[in-house]
Amino acid sequence: MERITGRFAVVGNPIAHSLSPRIHAAFAGQARRTIDYRAEQVDLETFECWVADFFEQGGRGLNVTLPFKSRAFALANVASERADSAGAANLLARDRDGQVCADNTDGKGLVTDMVGNAGWSLRDARVLILGAGGAVKGVMSALLSEQPAAIHVVNRTASRAEEVAATWEGSDVMVCGGGYEMADAEMWDVVINGTSAGLSGGMPQLPTSIVLAEGCACYDMAYGSAATPFLSWSRERGARDVRDGLGMLVEQAAESYFLWLGEHPDTQTVMTALREV
Ligand code: ATR
Repeated sequence: MERITGRFAVVGNPIAHSLSPRIHAAFAGQARRTIDYRAEQVDLETFECWVADFFEQGGRGLNVTLPFKSRAFALANVASERADSAGAANLLARDRDGQVCADNTDGKGLVTDMVGNAGWSLRDARVLILGAGGAVKGVMSALLSEQPAAIHVVNRTASRAEEVAATWEGSDVMVCGGGYEMADAEMWDVVINGTSAGLSGGMPQLPTSIVLAEGCACYDMAYGSAATPFLSWSRERGARDVRDGLGMLVEQAAESYFLWLGEHPDTQTVMTALREV
């Protein structure tokens, strides 16, 4: 087994349950290689210093997760357009000149899973997004690139959804933002849950009169039991297909791996293996 040069890590707080080390180890293993990719829990006060040290000591690539994605974006010297539009980064690397570069592979991960893996089409779809936090901001630009008919962002705190919509004012695709009552406006082709309500077993309080179009597909950006309340609600409402965010997690990791190492790993086998656990 050949060892991939350099250190890699995912940094967050908490981080103990992260699947990323297993995913990256599986990617490397496909080419009969090993990778030094660890999950690192970092104190809230010391994040910026920790990142600086990591790169000083020759660290090659970092994934960043909650609650550090905005701070990762802020500390970088250079940012990709997709990190810039999200105001958040889930990936940091250092270029040849020693500059710390921020990128965001979450949106690409979501769209690859929905369109590439699940076979859904977002083109001309009426898309409803629940939530307006960092998770949603991170995927807006990738969703808009798929040319849906419109995206409505609805949130418990309406003003946060209005802010997300304002960011995209003037784009080719109409983006509206408001409170959950606005979810009544249309028949939805695609509904995406980007809230963290499922982590505590809950479900956003949507109007009971909400209508899913025939063939509607529903996606939860969380995976495992955190996705259960929303996916059960979707099935009860007659969704044709439902999907949790495990595929998004694996696909964002694959895009990170590609940016660091220039290789596209096989994501299907990794997803199958993770589902079997
Ligand atoms: P993240 O980076 O994961 O998006 P965040 O910025 O804290 O985290 O955003 C969490 C999102 O989940 C928000 O849209 C939040 O709604 P508010 O902005 O009104 O707080 C939403 N959320 C969390 N718990 C929720 C619940 N029980 N019901 C509805 N929405 C919830």
